[in-house]
Amino acid sequence: MSGRPARIRIFKNIEELSRAAAEVFAACAEQSIVRHGRFAVALSGGSTPRRLYEFLGGAPYSERIAWQQVHLFWADERCVPPDHAESNYKLASDSFMTSVPLPEGNLHRVKGEEGPAAAACFYEEDLRHFFGGIGFPSFDLIILGAGEDGHTASLFPNSPILLETTRLAMPVYLERPKWDRVTLSLPVLNHASTVLVLASGRAKAEVVSHILSEHNTKDYPAGLVSPVSGDLEWMIDEEAAAVPS
Ligand code: 6PG
Repeated sequence: MSGRPARIRIFKNIEELSRAAAEVFAACAEQSIVRHGRFAVALSGGSTPRRLYEFLGGAPYSERIAWQQVHLFWADERCVPPDHAESNYKLASDSFMTSVPLPEGNLHRVKGEEGPAAAACFYEEDLRHFFGGIGFPSFDLIILGAGEDGHTASLFPNSPILLETTRLAMPVYLERPKWDRVTLSLPVLNHASTVLVLASGRAKAEVVSHILSEHNTKDYPAGLVSPVSGDLEWMIDEEAAAVPS
């Protein structure tokens, strides 16, 4: 599945990266709402997007974005209750959701507490109900991170679900002590209109280099993100952009 080449932007630090990502989020929202009356965005968890989410919860974005037309989904979620410290929903809720006028019905939470298989089924039903039942849903924007092992969302290296071609959301069973998860499938990621992949810090330099400069994209799930007809942008800071010695 090949799309247009990724745009790569390098920022001084996570603060500048996050500010720029908030601007992309707001611009995507404005364009999507003009185009089809709503903005459907899928969020990731982890540490990298936290500052972006905090920007969204404050001026100017808390007022500038038409939150009444925004629908929040998740690229992946841990199988924990929504008030659990590991919950990606909780990360977004604590960072900005409580500060913006988002209608309750616009929250499409992955019910991870139901367990991976049931939660994936419930989430797929929600996705099909919202986007319509034919083909893959096309998110207006998906925010992704990249793990040091090259995973993105909960698509981990060598996972058989990387080969999934029909399901929208999949259960992910991880070895303890990690939490099982639910993830959007790779085809859903690659049917988005815009995908942002955020990477920050020296620990990401090797995987970023493999994916972006050595074109070993197929070795890493984050490198398999290549929207069929959408735009892909890697937003990285100088530490993550440093070619490892
Ligand atoms: C999750 C995320 C995951 C994350 C990467 C990077 O649920 O953990 O969705 O895919 O984006 O693990 O995490 P950091 O941003 O913490 O490096």
